[in-house]
Amino acid sequence: MNVRWSHCVLRVRDLDAMIEFYCDALGFKLADRGAVSPEQNIAFLSGSSTDHHQLGLITGRADDDTSSLDHNAFRVDSVEDVQTMVNWVNNDERTGKGFPVTHGNAVSVYFKDPEGNGIEIFCDTAWHVPQPQIGFWDPSQTPEEILDKVKADFGDADGFGPIEEYQAAQASIFNE
Ligand SMILES: [Fe+2]
Repeated sequence: MNVRWSHCVLRVRDLDAMIEFYCDALGFKLADRGAVSPEQNIAFLSGSSTDHHQLGLITGRADDDTSSLDHNAFRVDSVEDVQTMVNWVNNDERTGKGFPVTHGNAVSVYFKDPEGNGIEIFCDTAWHVPQPQIGFWDPSQTPEEILDKVKADFGDADGFGPIEEYQAAQASIFNE
């Protein structure tokens, strides 16, 4: 399996200040921001057209929280690869059960390493969907069934469209 680094998500205390810092320091652009729950907001920053986000910032870091890491994310090539990871995680005693999630633009499994650090393994889908989005997928289905359901679940969302169109627009923003 070909596994490539993609992004990390950090828990933060001051979302606006952290967005401003990373945009100033690294030239990142705000790709999306929104609520994942009534109490929690997330922002997605990127400096590249090929990654919707290279850094995610999510609120809710407690004052006594010694780690800011929510998760590290790695990209694989296919839904089959993500299904392979689900099976591996669910049969390894060092991890809890994998949590299958789709963001519309990705099919993911979330789990934790033996010290509690979050990990996301995902493959891209053919679509862009403004974030945040959270849905669920069934690892027992075929990859075709899984992707059909993702399209059915997110196809009516505002801004849903082919990933190539989104990436072309982002490429012009980043002067690539
Ligand atoms: Fe992620």
